[in-house]
Amino acid sequence: MSTPAPKGTGFITPSDGATYARIMGVGGYRPERVVMNSEIIEAIDSSDEWIQERSGIKSRRFAAKDESVVDMSEPATRDALVAAGLEASDVDAVIVATVTHPYQTPAAAPILADRLGIRGAAFDISAACAGYCHAVSLASDMVRGGSARHVLVVGVEKLSDFTDPTDRGSAFIFGDGAGAAIVGPSDTPAIGPTVWGSDGSQWKTISQRDSWVEVRDGDLGWPAIGMAGQSVFRWAVWGMAPVAQKALDAAGVRAEDLDAFIPHQANMRIIDAMIKQLKLPADIPVARDIAETANTSAASIPLATERMLREGEVAHGGLALQIGFGAGLVYAAQVVVLP
Ligand code: COA
Repeated sequence: MSTPAPKGTGFITPSDGATYARIMGVGGYRPERVVMNSEIIEAIDSSDEWIQERSGIKSRRFAAKDESVVDMSEPATRDALVAAGLEASDVDAVIVATVTHPYQTPAAAPILADRLGIRGAAFDISAACAGYCHAVSLASDMVRGGSARHVLVVGVEKLSDFTDPTDRGSAFIFGDGAGAAIVGPSDTPAIGPTVWGSDGSQWKTISQRDSWVEVRDGDLGWPAIGMAGQSVFRWAVWGMAPVAQKALDAAGVRAEDLDAFIPHQANMRIIDAMIKQLKLPADIPVARDIAETANTSAASIPLATERMLREGEVAHGGLALQIGFGAGLVYAAQVVVLP
């Protein structure tokens, strides 16, 4: 502890962080139950062919009825800790990105922290499908700013609880799962500058149908998440490639220098359109976890990352561009060195 400055000097001890931050390890959890398109189509008068053609989705995982976002976060975190070579006791802050923790308060993060024996800061953030990239940005700044040394970042969703199985526009899109990453100090730059932003004027484009108060006061039924599909599609296709390009420019990296492109797994057609606009060389691996995992919102990027590393599609230490975008509307992108 430094010596207090004399009264009236206005001096406080500056915080003391690492020069750089990096992702030290990732982990993922996919619920056991595989739900094929054939199980979804009857309620929405659709077909396996239509869903695959419009979204690239073949199947998704649904959590068990009594399996919570905290339950899913725990195994994902344990895998990330092993990959990072750390113990839970090394973690001094927990950020959970989710929009499907079913308690207005408290947040999921302190409950998860308690399960793991962590007593550090713990809070949730709500940035929908961009939640993971927001949380990585915060974690990096926390490590560099000195407010934490190792930050656990979790993207987790149980979207099956918030999906209307009879809604043709969204019932086939969503899935459940959890992805985790540990962010800690680094000797070299390993998390590039974040390019992020929002357009709240479009907040109704993807949203819970009614507020909790409206649900209480009216006879409205369960307020599932709804989506104006075509507006989302246009915004993502035309708006997000320039954001991804800005993240590359901010990191001083050219598209051809990437080892992987890991966009939010929203929809295969959106992924393909972004690849085209970014002029990404055909030999650069692109995350396509959506085919078997569907859109898991905040969990999609860490789950896709974990899969690419596990299956050897990209090497540890490779450069990846990650971009999340979704309800808000909000987005965040950064180049990272893969753990
Ligand atoms: N199954 C079968 N047919 C369907 C359908 C379904 N689930 N939903 C709509 N259709 C039909 C419509 O009835 C319409 O038929 P018509 O031409 O005979 O009138 C046709 O398909 C087109 O409907 P439309 O609502 O214009 O669909 P679309 O082409 O916009 O596709 C999405 C719907 C949801 C696949 C598309 O808008 C999309 O991918 N949006 C982005 C969603 C997304 O990625 N969200 C995540 C963001 S984080």
